[in-house]
Amino acid sequence: MPLIETQNVTFKYGVRTPMEKTAVDDLSVCFEAGEIVGIIGHTGSGKSTFVQLLNGLLRPASGRVLLEGRDIWEKPKKIRDVRFKVGLVFQYPEYQLFEETCRRDIGYGPRNMGLNDEQVNEAVERAAVQAGVKPELMEKSPFELSGGEKRRVAIAGVMAMGPRVLILDEPTAGLDPQARDKVLQRIKAYSETTGALVLLVSHRMEDIAAICDRIMVMSKARMIMFGTVDEVFSRYDELKAMGLSMPQVSRVLRKLKLAGYPVNTHIYDEPSACAEIVRLVKQCGIKR
Ligand SMILES: Nc1ncnc2c1ncn2[C@@H]1O[C@H](COP(=O)(O)OP(=O)(O)O)[C@@H](O)[C@H]1O
Ligand SMILES: [Mg+2]
Repeated sequence: MPLIETQNVTFKYGVRTPMEKTAVDDLSVCFEAGEIVGIIGHTGSGKSTFVQLLNGLLRPASGRVLLEGRDIWEKPKKIRDVRFKVGLVFQYPEYQLFEETCRRDIGYGPRNMGLNDEQVNEAVERAAVQAGVKPELMEKSPFELSGGEKRRVAIAGVMAMGPRVLILDEPTAGLDPQARDKVLQRIKAYSETTGALVLLVSHRMEDIAAICDRIMVMSKARMIMFGTVDEVFSRYDELKAMGLSMPQVSRVLRKLKLAGYPVNTHIYDEPSACAEIVRLVKQCGIKR
């Protein structure tokens, strides 16, 4: 059974107004525990709306969202419990930090879940490690931290609820390269150690290539592709026509191929691309 599944889900903003807009249109998809799925698509294609449907922040106009086989809207009063199981980290989540200390901020979700002090503490300590928040930051105000640190505190706040599904909407937006790498590593480690399903919405194809197993592509409120990283990225021309790019390293490998070099273009992440270029250089007999 898929961990989470949508069946013909449709969502509209501004229903029965002149502004009515279908943001998600008849979308059916299944996601399994333990995988990391990247969600890509042009601005306005419906990515943020889609992920909010998965944790019950928005309710479908039609269709169903199933979590472990059960319709999340079966008991609307219980929708809060769904939000604990399906953790959503919004874009720029650090704007929502508000407690006096990082420790209290990370503990906000677990306290809401009704855990006792000891359990909250345990959850906070665990999540701080998972998200890479250093112990010396825990008693500080979130406002004293760097951008990358704030972002990790916000992510820890969602990890602290121990979600089976962790969704992150543009988690690396606005971060410098080092902070970006750290955030991605933490997300991957969360998936590996907990077996959770991770959904990663990102504009950066490099982020997607670095940690995702599969990719879902949205365009104009619909899902138009869903497959492994290789299956999706090898449809270069279609992605390009949609205004989506490829990871930079794949563009380099493609150019080498077009220039006649015997290079493998089914490579999308930086370490594998470096290894392939080294192989090519050796094969072509260029000495150091
Ligand atoms: N709160 C809202 N009210 C009205 N329209 C919205 C709202 N949020 C998003 N939309 C519209 O829904 C569509 C999908 O938006 P969104 O889900 O934010 O896409 P993405 O995250 O891919 O950029 C867009 O046309 C957007 O303008
Ligand atoms: Mg968005």
